[in-house]
Amino acid sequence: MTTTAPAVPERLQALEAAHIVPTYARAPVAFVRGEGVWLADAQGRRYLDLLSGIGVASLGHGHPGLAAALAEQARTLAHTSNLYYHPLQGEVASRLASLSGLPRAFFTNSGTEAVEACLKFARRYWVGQGRPDRTGFVALRHGFAGRTMGSLSVTWDEHYRAPFQPLVPGVTFVDPTDPGALDAAVTESTAAVIAEPIQGEGGIRPLPPATAAAIARACDATGTLLIADEVQCGLGRTGAPFVFPSLGLRPDLVSVGKALGGGMPVGAALVSERVAAAIRTGDHGSTYGGNLLACRAALFVLDQLADGGLLAHIRQVGSHLESRLRALAARHAAVREVRGRGLMWGVELDRDAGPVVAAALERGLLVNRTAGCVVRLLPPYIITESEIDEGLARLDAALDAATGGLA
Ligand SMILES: Cc1ncc(COP(=O)(O)O)c(C=O)c1O
Repeated sequence: MTTTAPAVPERLQALEAAHIVPTYARAPVAFVRGEGVWLADAQGRRYLDLLSGIGVASLGHGHPGLAAALAEQARTLAHTSNLYYHPLQGEVASRLASLSGLPRAFFTNSGTEAVEACLKFARRYWVGQGRPDRTGFVALRHGFAGRTMGSLSVTWDEHYRAPFQPLVPGVTFVDPTDPGALDAAVTESTAAVIAEPIQGEGGIRPLPPATAAAIARACDATGTLLIADEVQCGLGRTGAPFVFPSLGLRPDLVSVGKALGGGMPVGAALVSERVAAAIRTGDHGSTYGGNLLACRAALFVLDQLADGGLLAHIRQVGSHLESRLRALAARHAAVREVRGRGLMWGVELDRDAGPVVAAALERGLLVNRTAGCVVRLLPPYIITESEIDEGLARLDAALDAATGGLA
């Protein structure tokens, strides 16, 4: 295990300093290759990846089957636009339909575009119902839906929102630990409620069942649509295809992204028949959305999920990860709480998680900080129990180094 600080080549740093818009605070490491759950820098130093590019590299890095499918597709045909049919979009949509129960898909290139499509489709539905006044959205405290203007408008964190006001009007935020507040917020002017069944960026916070029940009740009582944002928690991350059924939710719209392409940028808005019936040609569109390359990747990942035994594997290694994390938490006084499901976990500390993440990097482990004090783990679905043990041994050492205390 390395404990020396990684280094980024000087030329690379200079190029980025001169030419990249400074929106990101990069960790001091540059990866050049990957295999399975491991990444390597140019010096050959290896890192155990418990973050999978923020939940994206679902099949790990350099997956031979995915790589072969993509190479073959790139040689055959990569992109034609949505002006024409191609053989893969309907296939991916039908697999998503059998996993989600929502019959139709609109393909996007990212999670935020998937949410954006859901917001637009919800508004469009009400226009089609002769209720163009139903424009409001109810979103949750700690919720994150992306950085484009619509998604940002239903994202809670003021830090992300403040520099870009005015955002889309008519959004009400509700505390997810206060189910009663939901009943008051959802009215006959609400177009849709948007909720992550497990909040990701907000600190890995599962939606409390009482709040899920209140959402279902309020939507039923007022006819309000529900958007389940499963960009981070969906598509196998928790060992189930989606999280919303376990909460008794019946969304008309579900946003997906991240894990869907295994590294290829692809997302989708999954839509019920009644909402899709309100959409007219030209209402929405995307040049790239669901192109052949993206769909080939999605098809490969979905086949692994549906038929490849991956969901059962995730449940098994997920419960191993949970028990190891709980044991680790018991050893460290700085750990306040461990939350999550399957392969989606947050370790909340009594302090800023940044130093622990940095100490982990020095020990060849990738995790990240979210919501300030939470160490987030979103490992690739293909991780094994012994790789989890190795990762948690490194996290244990990082916690020791950064917080200096055992419980
Ligand atoms: C729940 C959720 N929705 C939407 C997004 C936005 O996805 P993207 O970054 O691909 O635009 C994210 C990203 O973290 C997310 O976690």
